[in-house]
Amino acid sequence: MTTLKMDGKFGSNRLDREDQGVLGKPVDRLDGVRKVTGGAVYSADWRSDQPLAVGYLVCSTRGTGRVTALDVKLARQAPGVLAIYPRLPGLPATAPAGDLIYPQPAEVRHVGAPLALVVAETFEQARAAAILVKVAYDGDVPGRYILGDERARARKPGPFLFEPDHLRGSKKGLSGDTAAVDVEFTTPPQTHAAMEPHATIASWEGDKVTLRASYQMLNRGRQALARVLGIAEDRIRLISTFVGGGFGGKTGMSVETVFAAQASRLLGRPVKVVMTRRQVFAATSRRSETIQRISLVARAGKGLAEIGHHSIVANLPHEIFWEPPGVGTMNLYASDSLDITHRLAEIDLVRAGMMRAPGEAVGMLALEVAMDELAEKLGKDPVAFRIECEPVVDPLDGKPFSARNLVGCLKEGARRFGWDRRQTQPGQRRDGEWLVGMGMAAAIRLNIFDSSQARVRLSADGTVRVETDLTDIGTGSYTVMAQVASEMLGVPMDRVTVALGDTDLPLSAGSGGSWGASTTGTAVFIACQDIAARIAAGLGVEPDAMTLKDGQVIAANKTYALASLVPPRGLEALGHAEPGANYQTHVHSTFGAHFVEAAVSALTGEVRVRRMLGVFDAGRIMNAKLARSQLIGGMIFGIGGALGEELVVDPRYGNFINGDLGDYLIPVNADVPPIDVVFLDEQDAWANPLKTKGIGELGISGSGAAIANAIYHACGARCRDFPLTPDKVFAAMEHAAGV
Ligand code: MOS
Repeated sequence: MTTLKMDGKFGSNRLDREDQGVLGKPVDRLDGVRKVTGGAVYSADWRSDQPLAVGYLVCSTRGTGRVTALDVKLARQAPGVLAIYPRLPGLPATAPAGDLIYPQPAEVRHVGAPLALVVAETFEQARAAAILVKVAYDGDVPGRYILGDERARARKPGPFLFEPDHLRGSKKGLSGDTAAVDVEFTTPPQTHAAMEPHATIASWEGDKVTLRASYQMLNRGRQALARVLGIAEDRIRLISTFVGGGFGGKTGMSVETVFAAQASRLLGRPVKVVMTRRQVFAATSRRSETIQRISLVARAGKGLAEIGHHSIVANLPHEIFWEPPGVGTMNLYASDSLDITHRLAEIDLVRAGMMRAPGEAVGMLALEVAMDELAEKLGKDPVAFRIECEPVVDPLDGKPFSARNLVGCLKEGARRFGWDRRQTQPGQRRDGEWLVGMGMAAAIRLNIFDSSQARVRLSADGTVRVETDLTDIGTGSYTVMAQVASEMLGVPMDRVTVALGDTDLPLSAGSGGSWGASTTGTAVFIACQDIAARIAAGLGVEPDAMTLKDGQVIAANKTYALASLVPPRGLEALGHAEPGANYQTHVHSTFGAHFVEAAVSALTGEVRVRRMLGVFDAGRIMNAKLARSQLIGGMIFGIGGALGEELVVDPRYGNFINGDLGDYLIPVNADVPPIDVVFLDEQDAWANPLKTKGIGELGISGSGAAIANAIYHACGARCRDFPLTPDKVFAAMEHAAGV
């Protein structure tokens, strides 16, 4: 195994020579045809040669209190039922006998909490029987479901990824000829709503279990499963060949996996459990609602004197995760003082966890709207004002940025979008019933690096195989890993195969936090470099003096077929990438600028986004087509966050009123305007030898704020309570008009 730590600035390497010329190109997805023809096998599609038993979860209909018994008399007698397993602290040795089961009263933490699994021969039988299970509850504790009601009880949480509070510099307050804003924003609970629901097929062979399940990070998932199932990690094989979206909702362990594994062990046959859409919403995790207060004070002259970003977020008691809306604010703008706090309130809703761009996605909705408000008060152009606030080093701790070209994004975006045609005053442009405006916002997202391994094998026939447990969650991991190997070894793409998503393969950091392609791509790079060095050594040349291209090796003025230099048993290397010092010495972020034209109906307050542009600085781009698609996807997420997405909570019972895709409003094609994505494609030599950074979550950061700012510019009314639905926008317009 060859380990490389990200220590020091990376110079040029084989990737920069572009001998093969495939890295960065808009290569089609290797799995594209399989995906659109039904050939891609997702977890629940897997066919066993043994008959699959099917489990259906019984979930709590109460938000608080205790479960005292499950009356399973009728359910047990229902056709096809094989067993009913209640949820236990620890796990049941067998399905309990009797009509009333629940071994000991168990606390109900939220509506939708899984209580039991009914297993039957078919899905329909399991579901029908699950409906017959009667749950007895006691205790009538009033639930805490609404963050606004709990804000006074919010407390400082422990550190999670970040410290909750950051204070730098001292506040001087408003003085002289400056302006300030001090405004409060609210964002609602949201759900990941990946297209593929959480699903597991469990099968045991002896004391080993194979779990075909929809996970983003197999290694992390397996660690958690080992703890819960009480077995060693090496007895669990977790396979996620294809994952139909995750967005953070599949980063940990999924509860249906635990039930499926246990039921399968007890029944002695494979068990499949697929969550319904409503269960995905109510029983997995969500993004916390937030209350955010932004206070900004401008300096007399130019720039910012003070930035304050104070967030209140929610989670269940005893959960350690908290949504960090202030994270982008830590590194975005220069100011004389910076004051960021996070407070956590206990709420009895399904666990709040990571959802796409945790922190920035909702934090930028507040910060970047407040920046727009301050620019307007100062009579400054919002693009120019942001450029005034550009820091030289990291605003929080003075470290250098690994690379940063936010100003380039702002300028290029303004130029391409036609920002100079924007009227200074809001509410100037009308197109029939539609008021039309332009808005913009900056984007920032952390670039994170974590330990990853990949194995590369060059066979004697000249083909290459890449193996790692990295997942492809719709992002294109199969394709970009193949591109790195193809470029590094000078082998055409059609001679590279990639195996992913299996804990039997070398373990990676998986897909999350936008780090998948960079971290595991670096591991592939390391392994390929190792193989190239061995080929060079065999020829007696320096690796750099050797060209690898189209399956040929050119060295010392001779050309060889690559395959002819490979020993019969092939060449194999295991690459291991580690974060190293660079992630301490430098601040690593990606940047962008969003521009939006939006129309607001003067009659109804309905918003139609007319066009969007994002210009991004996110290191080297590995695949122009896939990267563009990812950023477009993130920007569409921004439309959802600004205009539609909201889990509506019934304040009486704590259930989600719109807990399905019929009522939870995600943008559909008709909501999505033409979207233009531009990459500055500047390499980040402090990030990793590929000089890439994470791109997956950058598109969502700031895009919703640009929409909100365009709405204001269209109609002259500010609304700070997301999502900006027609009722709220219309009320804000009436308020602004003094109606
Ligand atoms: Mo992410 S929110 O770590 O998929």
